Amino acid sequence: MSKVVEKTESKTVAHDNGSIVIRGGKPLVGTVTVRGAKNAISKQMVATLLTKERCVLHNVPNIEDVEVVSEMIRAVGGEVKRISEDTIEIINRDINPVNREKLKSIAGKSRIPVLFAGPLLHRSKEAFIPELGGCKIGKRPVDFHMKALETLGATIESIEKGYHVTAEKLFGAKIKLDYPSVGATEQVLLASVLAEGVTELSNAAIEPEIMDTIAVLQKMGAIISVDTDRVITIIGVSELHGFEHRPITDRIEVASWASAAAATNGKIFVKNARQQDMMIFLNKFRLIGGEFKITEEGIEFSRGETLRAIPIETDVYPGFSTDYQQPFTLLLTQAIGASVMHETVYESRFGYVEAFSRMGANIQVYQECLGSRHCRFGAQNLKHSAVIIGPTKLHGAEIEVPDLRAGFSYVIAALTAEGETKIKNINVIYRGYEHFTDKLRALGAEIVG
Ligand code: EPU
Repeated sequence: MSKVVEKTESKTVAHDNGSIVIRGGKPLVGTVTVRGAKNAISKQMVATLLTKERCVLHNVPNIEDVEVVSEMIRAVGGEVKRISEDTIEIINRDINPVNREKLKSIAGKSRIPVLFAGPLLHRSKEAFIPELGGCKIGKRPVDFHMKALETLGATIESIEKGYHVTAEKLFGAKIKLDYPSVGATEQVLLASVLAEGVTELSNAAIEPEIMDTIAVLQKMGAIISVDTDRVITIIGVSELHGFEHRPITDRIEVASWASAAAATNGKIFVKNARQQDMMIFLNKFRLIGGEFKITEEGIEFSRGETLRAIPIETDVYPGFSTDYQQPFTLLLTQAIGASVMHETVYESRFGYVEAFSRMGANIQVYQECLGSRHCRFGAQNLKHSAVIIGPTKLHGAEIEVPDLRAGFSYVIAALTAEGETKIKNINVIYRGYEHFTDKLRALGAEIVG
């Protein structure tokens, strides 16, 4: 018989008060293990709804987002069990798609529920998509998702606190996204694999997590090709099957630990880090004076004598991920000279720098596109470019986590600063970083209180 493993103790302890105090100024030294990518696993869990057969995911971290998607799957009638420390089993024999109240109560925590639309339409011809949660880093509309579902043949009714989506059947179609959205690309994949006929998606996102989810769909029996110039072609099939999969390592978490190693002048070996998914990050890390050694087991991150300022623009893959931006911005506060960070993916992702400034950083945020190109946010009064002058000595302060990635960068700021920093609302960080306080302690961080 399989055993259900409950959440770990360390997580519960930290959840009791939702705040930590870090005494900074010590280099982080040691090894951390990073498991499967949050933004791949959560979508692969949704893909299980496309079959009645048993699906197994390995290397699954203990993070809040996995819990939320598990609850969502249970709310529509599926079964999710942790059968070992890092393996989950999902079986979705019978589906009940419109348990509205329950779905509403869970969904406010995440953006994944919108992806339930396609699989639920295939299973039971209707879906209720509640209002979405997730980090408040911009407007984050779902217009591309809804337009794509309509093009595939769904009828969408906007109702109180959500959408009611229905379709007798979905049919393959030509779809072009206005922007290579990760979620909308996944929406089209999950909706079209069982649609009748061929779907051609252009201007698609091609993040490594999406490629990993395509690998899962292929294991299930789907026929998907990723062509040149962001075109993905899906030939619909009539049935999909169970799968077993070990998702790729979380490259965003790896980059966060790399930034922490360099900012604190430490040395961290990140077990399971994969070079091929994060080459652009490694290039930028090297350019500012970070050092790394790649081995079969992972990557060791440290820094050389000095860190140097550079200009960076975030972009969709293969560009520099918007989720690398926050820890890297903190790292740039320790680099000599003026760095520029031009955020081109989300219009409102610099709110967090005010806390860095209170800790002693010198950062100005501008509405102009301060990169090599104009992006969608230029001339719109949206402060989406930051100039970071360094190096600055940081000092302790009381700060409150606004969102997931900014949250971890606050932790790095606190570790880099002299004195004590109280970080409130740390529960948000558990959405994407498992056991992070345990990992920090193992690296020598001084967490008090
Ligand atoms: N957009 C629209 N309309 C849509 C969908 C997207 O205008 O219908 C816009 C967004 O507002 C944004 C841009 O397109 O300006 C990109 O959004 P995208 O759809 O790619 O983002 P997402 O799928 O909601 C995922 C990750 C984010 C990550 C982005 C970009 C998950 C659960 N989330 O979000 O991760 O930043 O892709 O790579 O996969 C995180 O992990 O902390 C996180 C925020």
